[in-house]
Amino acid sequence: MSILPRLVRHETGFSFEIDGRKTVLLGGQIHNSSSSSIESIDSSFTKVASLNYDFVISPISWKQFETTEGNFDFTLLQHQIRKAESLKLKLVLIWFGAFKNAKSTYAPAWVRSDVQRFPRALNEPGGSPSDVPTLSVFSQNLLDADLKAFTQLMKFLKSKDKKHTVIMLQIENEMGLLGSSRDHSAAADSAWKARGIADTWQENEKFMAEALAKYSNTLAKAGKEIKNLPMFVNAWLGPQPGQSEAGHWPSGGPSSLVLDVWKKFAPDIDMLTPDIYELKAVPVMAQYARDDNALFIPESRHVLGNLFWALGHHRAIGYSMFAAEDGRVGNLMSKAYEILREAKCTVAESQASGRIRALLMREPDAQQSVRFGDLVIEPKDTLAGLKRFVEVAGVDLLIKDAELQSELEDLAVVIESPGDNRPSGIVIQLSDTEYYFIGKGINLSFSEPGYRVEIDDVEEGRFENEKWIPMRNLNGDERLNIVPLHEIACVKVTIQKFKQN
Ligand code: DGJ
Repeated sequence: MSILPRLVRHETGFSFEIDGRKTVLLGGQIHNSSSSSIESIDSSFTKVASLNYDFVISPISWKQFETTEGNFDFTLLQHQIRKAESLKLKLVLIWFGAFKNAKSTYAPAWVRSDVQRFPRALNEPGGSPSDVPTLSVFSQNLLDADLKAFTQLMKFLKSKDKKHTVIMLQIENEMGLLGSSRDHSAAADSAWKARGIADTWQENEKFMAEALAKYSNTLAKAGKEIKNLPMFVNAWLGPQPGQSEAGHWPSGGPSSLVLDVWKKFAPDIDMLTPDIYELKAVPVMAQYARDDNALFIPESRHVLGNLFWALGHHRAIGYSMFAAEDGRVGNLMSKAYEILREAKCTVAESQASGRIRALLMREPDAQQSVRFGDLVIEPKDTLAGLKRFVEVAGVDLLIKDAELQSELEDLAVVIESPGDNRPSGIVIQLSDTEYYFIGKGINLSFSEPGYRVEIDDVEEGRFENEKWIPMRNLNGDERLNIVPLHEIACVKVTIQKFKQN
């Protein structure tokens, strides 16, 4: 129990370790207010556990934690840890401190009401503060107060969370300034003048990024000195289609154009992470999966193929959907988690040794075939294959594509998550001739120059605590779809290769 969760860097990328063992994190983030009462912690965590998630990202609000200055209330924090433990969930805490979605609505009233001590950010010189409170990151008083509260939280984790149920923390939330490329408050202005930089939005975004990176790093560094847990920040993405300058997206947050600035000025932040609500998620993942940055997605829509792509192509250390508790019981994501959570160390080991690939069809931004050395694996769209077979065989069968059901329970929700009909999955190499495939709607075709490669055996099965449990042996008609069209399953495929004459 004394081994702390940690993020490890190695030759092929990064791994997350819990109890000294490599694992991938499969979870979701609950709604912003779901951890604000005992009852809603209970109901949201219980729902998340029923969807097979094994961690939950959950907020701690500064406003509730330190309602009056210097008096800290640990009740909700303690309850979150207890509840998570009872459901065998790990916890990733979001520190909703001075900044949440480029605003400061989670700062306590005593902070927001003292504008002399805690000045507001200004979007224009001499302008008035925005209606929704936005504090200036250039205020040392703000940093001191935020830091004091955050370190109290870390002290509590050190002394009370001996089992390390809290495995990681997010510092603030989607930081940055909206409406202007830089803060024009008095303190910001004097820092800006001292730098003597050109007044362009690009330079302003870098200026803001440096300030925010330093601010977050101060919290992370001090927090780690108390309890050395991995810490990350998350990005409101930018530029998004149609946006031409910083301020349209939060200026200075860890968005795509200033990742290097963040890396330079926030060395104690382990990861810069993207909140991916864009439908074109694949290119976004490529921006954040860097040699110096492990991919972890704290917020996303519930879209199955993106999970496989993150784990298999970018060797992501974890994945999480926003509005976790809105998931429909039995949806694709929870089925995927049900399988993957029994194989999470197997997946993580295969990432670390470079033996994992992702397949994502009908996705223009994803490459189609994958290789292990000279062996090429090409995904075949099962639906198309079945249709061809039926035509050639002259059989009168109607084969339909998936009727997509929403992944969420409530169809009236703001962020839609329609089921994903892209055939997708991950391939894990066990040996030169043996491969696990976890996915749906895909058949595999193997080839290697100079060899004839045939499928020798297909074993349907499942994992139980990392152990492969074989079920049916698939041949004949069942080889037409080694995993179902619309459901996720796993198979172990054995190939044999021999020299071509
Ligand atoms: C991004 C934020 O980080 C979340 O807290 C949440 O507000 C979602 N947007 C959308 O509801």
